[in-house]
Amino acid sequence: MSAPTVESVTAALAGVIDPEIRRPITELGMVRSVDVAPGPDGAAVTVGVDLTTAGCPMKDTITREVTATVRGLEGVTSVAVDLGVMSAEQRAELRSMLRGDAAEPVIPFAQPDNLTRVYAVASGKGGVGKSSVTANLAVAMAQQGLKVGVVDADVYGFSIPRMLGVTQAPTKVDDMILPPVAHGVKVISIGMFVPAGQPVVWRGPMLHRALQQFLADVFWGDLDVLLLDLPPGTGDIAISVAQMLPTSELLVVTTPQPAAAEVAERAGSIALQTRQQLVGVVENMSWLETPDGTRVEVFGAGGGQAVADNLSRATGTPVRLLGQIPLDLELRAAGDAGTPVTLASPDSPGARVLHEIASSLAHRSRGLAGRSLGLTPVTR
Ligand SMILES: Nc1ncnc2c1ncn2[C@@H]1O[C@H](COP(=O)(O)OP(=O)(O)OP(=O)(O)O)[C@@H](O)[C@H]1O
Ligand SMILES: [Mg+2]
Repeated sequence: MSAPTVESVTAALAGVIDPEIRRPITELGMVRSVDVAPGPDGAAVTVGVDLTTAGCPMKDTITREVTATVRGLEGVTSVAVDLGVMSAEQRAELRSMLRGDAAEPVIPFAQPDNLTRVYAVASGKGGVGKSSVTANLAVAMAQQGLKVGVVDADVYGFSIPRMLGVTQAPTKVDDMILPPVAHGVKVISIGMFVPAGQPVVWRGPMLHRALQQFLADVFWGDLDVLLLDLPPGTGDIAISVAQMLPTSELLVVTTPQPAAAEVAERAGSIALQTRQQLVGVVENMSWLETPDGTRVEVFGAGGGQAVADNLSRATGTPVRLLGQIPLDLELRAAGDAGTPVTLASPDSPGARVLHEIASSLAHRSRGLAGRSLGLTPVTR
């Protein structure tokens, strides 16, 4: 029987991934010590682990995974985890390792070499299902293996933490914020920073600053897709998003109702002013299917297609209707319970459409049409 060594234990610990940062704990300087005490039946191993903060919400997960990993090695009879906390220097080192030494935090998604697709989910009217669509698409894309982040940009009316079932607060490493992970999705929301039940009363510049922090101070790592849940309408936040993330694309959500469609169109047409691309239109609450299979069009019909057609005309580029999501009791209940329906009941009628939309967005390649290539004409 081969006895474990400090080296073999350390090598095995490289398989333990920090749940928030998503890198091996050995790379992050979290493994302080490894002690192997040989005994007659095998070795007793003690692993010293330094957490980023004393109240690290992930400490149980990390302890469990370290224990299970070391326990799985041949010749180990017992494992003890000795938890500690990183010193200020260690935290500063970690921060600069993750983010480089830039003095001012930059928005990674606004850099020229950024490969993350950024979708801003917008609507004219409130209550049409933006947040439900955002949460469900995020979880569906994560299930497809993509690395996904969600920014709840609805600062006054945040609802993303509840829909994704996030109760834990973000961890801070110096001035860097580690977003909680829910159902495989990294999430940040103002709701994680204000005491429960307290309203957010901020003016435009503060909203702008909050969004800036969500994008620049949060450690997102490499994401394939970032989804932003916008507040309804064409307010300050929509403009800030366009300024901070010029390559973000708008996903417009509407109900089939003509009145809702008109305002949705207005929300979509800000893309003309901000030069954002429109990724498509999602019609929500399209119909209610009764047990005998008939479709009751509770909110009328045709709104989604009308918005897509009119926005195509206005922008001169085709804007597709990406899908029609029926009214779905399970979708509502799953959102309230904190596990989006695309995960909780993937075969429900609403979830199926959302999965299709997620696939079509996940497999889109980044187009250059309508984008500034950053070229300046040469004058002769
Ligand atoms: N297809 C659907 N079937 C049943 N219920 C739905 C559907 N879509 C959304 N809902 C429910 O409608 C309500 C409003 O949805 P949601 O919060 O996603 O809208 P919103 O556009 O984000 O609203 P707000 O403008 O307030 O941010 C929620 O309770 C949600 O569960
Ligand atoms: Mg919302």
